[in-house]
Amino acid sequence: MTSPLPVILDVDTGGDDALALLLAMASPSLEVRGISCVAGNCGLEQVVTNTLRLLDGIDAPFVPVAVGMERPIVDSGLPPPALHGSDGMGDLGLPDPQRKALEAHAVEFLRDALTEAAEPLTLICLAPLTNIAMLLRTYPRVGEKIARLYVMGGTYAAPGNATPAAEFNVRCDPEAAAIVLGSGLPVTLYPLDPFMQVRITRGEAEAMTRATGGGARIAGGIALHYCRYFGADFSLIGDAGTVAAVIDPEGAATVRSPVRVELTGGATRGATVFDRRQWSAEEARDGWSEIEVITGVDAPRYRRLMASALGVEAMLAD
Ligand code: BDR
Ligand code: CA
Repeated sequence: MTSPLPVILDVDTGGDDALALLLAMASPSLEVRGISCVAGNCGLEQVVTNTLRLLDGIDAPFVPVAVGMERPIVDSGLPPPALHGSDGMGDLGLPDPQRKALEAHAVEFLRDALTEAAEPLTLICLAPLTNIAMLLRTYPRVGEKIARLYVMGGTYAAPGNATPAAEFNVRCDPEAAAIVLGSGLPVTLYPLDPFMQVRITRGEAEAMTRATGGGARIAGGIALHYCRYFGADFSLIGDAGTVAAVIDPEGAATVRSPVRVELTGGATRGATVFDRRQWSAEEARDGWSEIEVITGVDAPRYRRLMASALGVEAMLAD
């Protein structure tokens, strides 16, 4: 058996970040070395509270949780998206957290965790990229200790969600996204295209709320919240799909493509622009970085992976 992949998650918890954390914490394929928090889906303090109470809710062993950047590098941030509920995590009424966040700032925590790790770590970035951009700009040598950055953000062929052209995480902090995607480090992007594919049904979510495992009950509650908010008979697993792609890369279709983040556009600020031209000469790609992009996933495979990690595979309708 291969040893678990050491990872750190950067989150703006966030209902679907919570689903991602539940999957990462439950998966025997991953070893979660830490969690860094950043403002995004809600204010930073609420993100930290949500992250800590989620860990309490599953009786997680100690995992360092670090508090990061309160606002994007240039912009002042986007309003909290209403879809995540008034507390940003589905209004489940989870108790106040018993555990505490680290004193150290997330950027210092990330630097130390990477520097001290015996082997390079994988970063799973599920939020505006402010923490990660600040890390790479402040301590560029830590890049040597980053095995790969998996980034939920942007769109490949799909429309945006924050604006017609831009996805929320990238639109929230476009400069940070430009720094990270342009860093030259190994990046795998999980854009809105696969993000929109992986679902659990309302019936499955309802069944999960009655499960014995704390993680499954919380995941069911969050999914049910999204079903109710959208009046839909399904919920996306959202950011959790990115974690599934780390655990099971064979379930993802990828392309390599040069990318840039649009920083100056009006209607297009925060759009991820991919150069799909077959005829592009290398010199025409100055200022573009080639990254791996997940263009689609085997959705049934990833929903099974999620259900099996939560111990509720038997509750799936198919
Ligand atoms: C991304 O935006 C956030 O609202 C979600 O948590 C996800 O990371 C999707 O655009
Ligand atoms: Ca997120």
